Amino acid sequence: MVIDSIPLLIPDLPSTKQLLPWLQRIEHNKWYTNFGPLVQEFESKLVQLFTQWNHGNYYLTTVSSGTDALELALLALNIPEKRRALLPAFTFPATATAIKQCGLQPVFTDVEPSSWLLTPAIARQVLKKMAFDVVLPVATFGYPQPVDEWDKFQEETGIPVLIDAAAAFGTQPLGERCIITFSFHATKPFGIGEGGLVVANSADFIHQVNKLSNFGFDCGIISQSGSNAKLSEYHAAVALAQLERWHQIIKRRKKIWEIYRHYLGAMGNKISLQETPDDPVPATLSIKLNDIGNNLSQLVKQLAKKGIQTRRWYYPPLSEHPAFRDIQRVAPDGGDCLGVTKELSMSLLGLPFHTDLNEEMIDYICCHLLYSKNHSQFPMASEQSFPITQND
Ligand SMILES: Cc1ncc(COP(=O)(O)O)c(C=O)c1O
Repeated sequence: MVIDSIPLLIPDLPSTKQLLPWLQRIEHNKWYTNFGPLVQEFESKLVQLFTQWNHGNYYLTTVSSGTDALELALLALNIPEKRRALLPAFTFPATATAIKQCGLQPVFTDVEPSSWLLTPAIARQVLKKMAFDVVLPVATFGYPQPVDEWDKFQEETGIPVLIDAAAAFGTQPLGERCIITFSFHATKPFGIGEGGLVVANSADFIHQVNKLSNFGFDCGIISQSGSNAKLSEYHAAVALAQLERWHQIIKRRKKIWEIYRHYLGAMGNKISLQETPDDPVPATLSIKLNDIGNNLSQLVKQLAKKGIQTRRWYYPPLSEHPAFRDIQRVAPDGGDCLGVTKELSMSLLGLPFHTDLNEEMIDYICCHLLYSKNHSQFPMASEQSFPITQND
């Protein structure tokens, strides 16, 4: 097999054939948006799923993107303008833009070196130096946030916790207090094109987010103005078709992760992986290259020459982008140097991770990572084999 190119991400969405019955239902209903029957069906199936995965009563509402989910959840929290919102500098821009859009003041902090997450311990340290009114921990690269610890943080401090779990549908557990948002963007594990979700334990809160997603209308009257952030029936059609494939998608992603772990394991302490207690399947795969120094851009170019597409996620970190440079930074020690964020952004490399990969491709990627300068021959398959069939 000759490998021409290995894309970084390939969305795994339903085929036209799988979509057709749902599209026919839209045609029959002649209802295209504004909380139509397919959106309602998708939401009630999600409630069933979350109830299976977690203990407790959950309320949820779909919206048109993960960014809207963050924005509307923040709006519904009703925090007075200009109050501080703590977030990690090691995240996607949407976490910060949502805060800015709601008139709040973002404050960047650092992440923990092994999990790459803003943890409750970091938030508590920051709190000793500076007051804030809401915290937005991120489930970075789909690694779940410790929701029970965040529930405790909220209970003890009275500060609301809004977990940005954009990439963590299927891996982020729900708790008893935290509000959690997800993204259904095409490249996310549960991709539908564009879409988002807000989940909470309070029916009133979710009702408010739902109203805000339709400009804020409540029986024709607007008390708090919102936006147009409704999920259309077409996106709900993709979502319902995708739910039927979900079991198969997670099975395959799990297998691909097992293969990667095996091949990456051969690199010993040349690399580190993101660590959390439950070893979830990542949404996107970033590895930390230890002792890479300033040679990472060189490696990216060498891999590109071999047809391997990579991405340096969160490089530069959010706090270094011109749009966000004036935002205040508070490290856990009270200083303004976000050392872990800086180090991660200099040494992380995102590798291809999607359901179109097979063992030979993963072997190829990892061999070129190890011997990027002199590896010219196509690698031999290694002793342990993980056959993947198209039905896995
Ligand atoms: C951490 C994080 N938050 C929010 C978002 C925004 O989600 P969406 O693209 O659905 O608006 C993303 C998207 O990649 C993300 O990675």
